[in-house]
Amino acid sequence: MTFPITRNRRLRRSASLRSMLREHAVRVEDFIYPIFVTHGEGVREQIPSMPGVYHLSMDQLKLEIEEVVSLGIKSVLIFGVPSYKDAVGSSAYDDQEIVQQAIAAIKQWAPQLVVIADTCLCQFTDHGHCGVIHMNESTGVADINNDESLQLLVKTAVSQAKAGADIIAPSNMMDGYVAAIRQGLDEAGFSDIAIMAYSVKYASAFYGPFRDAAHSAPQFGDRKTYQMDPANAIEALREAESDVEEGADFLMVKPALAYLDIVRTLVDQFDLPVVAYNVSAEYSMVKAAAANGWVDEKAIVLETLLGMKRAGAQLIITYHAKDAARWLKEEA
Ligand code: PBG
Repeated sequence: MTFPITRNRRLRRSASLRSMLREHAVRVEDFIYPIFVTHGEGVREQIPSMPGVYHLSMDQLKLEIEEVVSLGIKSVLIFGVPSYKDAVGSSAYDDQEIVQQAIAAIKQWAPQLVVIADTCLCQFTDHGHCGVIHMNESTGVADINNDESLQLLVKTAVSQAKAGADIIAPSNMMDGYVAAIRQGLDEAGFSDIAIMAYSVKYASAFYGPFRDAAHSAPQFGDRKTYQMDPANAIEALREAESDVEEGADFLMVKPALAYLDIVRTLVDQFDLPVVAYNVSAEYSMVKAAAANGWVDEKAIVLETLLGMKRAGAQLIITYHAKDAARWLKEEA
């Protein structure tokens, strides 16, 4: 009989040993919690495909922020449902609109909370695309015009910074967006405001529930001319490289779960903090399975978040943040 030469189980013999040798951990400081704000009063409307996530009017937002702060969460990411939409997404850079109001209010209620603004046009355009549309009359094909869209994204970012956003997170996937927004912020006097670039954002089916929540589904076509093909990994390096050159302060990979190889690649190749976006359908799938009693929600969520940390993510944007913060407290 030959015996194992190496006995890896020796180091797993007790709970104490296992905890001493644990290489990675999830911390409440890792979380960024996305919030959807809307007009009105007393609105706390659950998003059907995202149980536990709500559209909140300002008064309800206040309660939500109190809860987030009490749980020890350090940062929120703000999305808004505006009061009007048009072809050029005017409500995105309207200083009086809901996102700007929410940012300003949060910075008053909880100045220490890091407020991140999602900078995109798709929630604010009537066609639901992330930029300006040019229709080619002869072919009937609509094109998302890159450079005109940049102008509007810069206006949006500056308006959000004026409202008090600590970090601008542009999610539109136009070329040159980081450089344009950096220059715009600097010229407006916001050189201290960081850019969290959605550098590697795939054209993914995992955004489905979010588009219900944000009312931001494209009214025709898809986002494949600007978001990346899920088949590509080398292209992710090009996307990240250009964002680094243009002055990004963070790199993001989105979605997270099906793209943890890309998270690891960026962590190895670049020296900026990498953020993983644990997107809406990743959340909804767990919620649906848990509601059916098919999985242990707490165990599944904490294991998932740990996987993102192990892949190298410094921060995780997740709808599970409040629950996970509670569970981490229980464990401690
Ligand atoms: C806006 C944006 C989207 C998400 C974040 N910002 C949707 C999209 O690109 O269609 C998705 C987030 C999620 O699914 O949780 N461009």
